[in-house]
Amino acid sequence: MEKIFVCSKNDLPEGEAIKVDCQPEAIAVFNIGGSFHAMNDKCSHGNASMSEGYIEEDGKVECPLHSALFCVKTGKPLCLPATDPIATHPVVVENDSIYVLLK
Ligand code: FES
Repeated sequence: MEKIFVCSKNDLPEGEAIKVDCQPEAIAVFNIGGSFHAMNDKCSHGNASMSEGYIEEDGKVECPLHSALFCVKTGKPLCLPATDPIATHPVVVENDSIYVLLK
């Protein structure tokens, strides 16, 4: 697994998201209620950036383009128009730094 540095914990407050430009795909990292979650940044339905989506406190993120909802923990679509999941990635926090583990 490749370990990608995201940012310091202090740079990703609750209810916010950050986009990490890495290969092979950009990753969106979310802080929901103090826990961190990562998924591919590109929506499974179209060309939208999930890091620009609307974060709901119950662990859902809404695509900014056509409003499909996804679970940030599993990447599963929760309503149309999206039908395919978005790949998720493990997140680790070490010494106040956030990392994503890419498979
Ligand atoms: Fe995300 Fe259409 S691009 S729901």
